[in-house]
Amino acid sequence: LDRKSAVLIAFATAALGLSACAVQPSQVTLRETAWLSETGLLEALSNEPFVDREALYAAALKSELADIYTSPQALRSELLAGEFLFKAPLLLGGQAAKAGISCHSCHTNGTDNPHFLFPAVSGESGTADTTHSFFSKSLGNQVTDPIAIPDLTKGGKVAHSMESGELEAFLTTIVVGEFSGVKASPRVIAPMATYVRALRLTGSMDQTVRPRSLKQDLEDVRLTVDQAALQADDGKSEVAALLLSSGQSQIQSIHERLDRSSHSVLRDWLTARAREMGMLRRRLNAGEGLLKSDLAGLQERLSSGPDFSQAAHNSLYNPAILANALKR
Ligand code: HEC
Repeated sequence: LDRKSAVLIAFATAALGLSACAVQPSQVTLRETAWLSETGLLEALSNEPFVDREALYAAALKSELADIYTSPQALRSELLAGEFLFKAPLLLGGQAAKAGISCHSCHTNGTDNPHFLFPAVSGESGTADTTHSFFSKSLGNQVTDPIAIPDLTKGGKVAHSMESGELEAFLTTIVVGEFSGVKASPRVIAPMATYVRALRLTGSMDQTVRPRSLKQDLEDVRLTVDQAALQADDGKSEVAALLLSSGQSQIQSIHERLDRSSHSVLRDWLTARAREMGMLRRRLNAGEGLLKSDLAGLQERLSSGPDFSQAAHNSLYNPAILANALKR
């Protein structure tokens, strides 16, 4: 079956209303495919390594990280903010952001990514040259020297002691220098540093692989916006704006997996929420301090959204449909 006839058949079945499971080949335009190896594609798109959030929190709570926050709840929030900042392509700025690449693309949920393969930036899959001029004008060293992407739950070369501030300095360099991002304030670096420190405290023991799930992805969008609301309320507009951009990017990857014809209502609903986030972000960027209440409407709409339960198995979230669609 060539591509053209597949499209025609998919189109015809859709027209007949028989398309409950038809995902048209033209819709397999998942952004992530741009930086995933051909061989690892199905695995990377259907499963994700993940560090148990409760384990992360428990490890952080027992450490000196607990001392820098006013309450256990504040520590938990900061860990979530760090986790979701990892999913904000905007943090990297420049060409990486345009391509949709975030920390998470290389360090999947804080780990590594054996399937990462980006033209010119990678050697073997799972490697990247972070000093490539694609990411950085200033640090670009004209040499292709890709190295293995480290798993952040394991010990690495950057020291984590809080006194030295080496981790903060490293993160500031990758956000500002290596990826030509906007100058990140210490307020943006802080939650990321806490998250990265906690990852190493848990170690790979608490790492699991779970299937990519629509329910989980939607829940994460909600959690991201909750964190944005808390940060905005705390006067941290820059962090709140970046979290909203993370939410927008997360919505984009949910939207991409849903079928244009059978899930148009859900897709439109997602688009509307992403627009709302964009509007709030522009207000924050314009220096308008937002309060928790300004995000309450969005939070309310996110928690009382349409029923996505059918879409989970009737979309690219279903590994069988995904595998089939990738074959075409
Ligand atoms: C293009 C893939 C890629 C992206 C995107 C990326 N990293 Fe990395 N990261 C790497 C590689 C490769 C290294 C190893 C660099 C080295 O050892 O010089 C690394 C190293 C690190 C380390 C040090 C680990 C150690 O050895 O102690 C941390 C922390 C880190 N990255 C966090 C981040 C954060 C936070 C972001 C987002 C702002 C990010 N990375 C984005 C590929 C990436």
